[in-house]
Amino acid sequence: MNPITGIYTTTVGKKILMAVTGIILVLYVLAHMLGNLQIYIGAERIDAYARLLHSMPPLLWFARAVLLFCVLVHIVAAVQLWLRNRASRPVKYRMFRPPEVDLAARTMVWSGPILLLFIIYHLLHLTTGDAHPNYEELAPFHNVVVGFAVWWAAGIYIVANLLLAFHLYHGVWSLFQTLGWDHPKWGPCRRYLAAAIAVVVGTANISIPLAVLAGVLHQ
Ligand code: HEM
Repeated sequence: MNPITGIYTTTVGKKILMAVTGIILVLYVLAHMLGNLQIYIGAERIDAYARLLHSMPPLLWFARAVLLFCVLVHIVAAVQLWLRNRASRPVKYRMFRPPEVDLAARTMVWSGPILLLFIIYHLLHLTTGDAHPNYEELAPFHNVVVGFAVWWAAGIYIVANLLLAFHLYHGVWSLFQTLGWDHPKWGPCRRYLAAAIAVVVGTANISIPLAVLAGVLHQ
């Protein structure tokens, strides 16, 4: 077997794939959050930002292809690791609660699939407009404000971004471990960084549907 492709069939290789694609996805989520926060500057600002992104189709499609590739690799590796983990332990431990397996870690198995469903809904809602009551091309301010005025749609975003925060917290923390950046000296730093990313992304994203529901963001 080719030694380069061979490593990806090992458990460590799959974890490295998850970590590397995870880093790219975290960077996208952070960049997207900064883009979204421009909604507080006003309609002109965020609409101009959307027009700028769409004015460079080759770059936009390249970024979309990279994202899609990372999401697919991340999911396939996660499912394979989960199946391997289950197969290696056919009889469950009766009381197995190592300290690092905290709430966020235990939610990874179902927060991942729910986030995938959320992303599909989100694309139909705010990118293609198929799941939006009154979608307008290249008008994210209008689309977000009108879209989140529907309470259950805003609720979906709030719950999904809470789950995203948990997923990011455990994901960022464990990718340091996978990549070997787990010296005991850095233990608390890893936790703080993972918590900071989770809290910042969760709070910033959730603030937008809440601001629409509270009438702070309106047309
Ligand atoms: C309240 C939170 C969010 C808001 C307000 C929001 C807003 C938007 C808007 C307005 C668009 C369309 C942009 C355009 O027309 O170019 C978009 C696209 C997108 N969003 Fe979000 N988003 C949020 C959360 C998320 C989250 C949590 C994820 C991923 C985990 C995500 C992933 C995406 C992706 C992949 C696209 C498609 C980008 C493209 O290829 O055009 N978004 N978002």
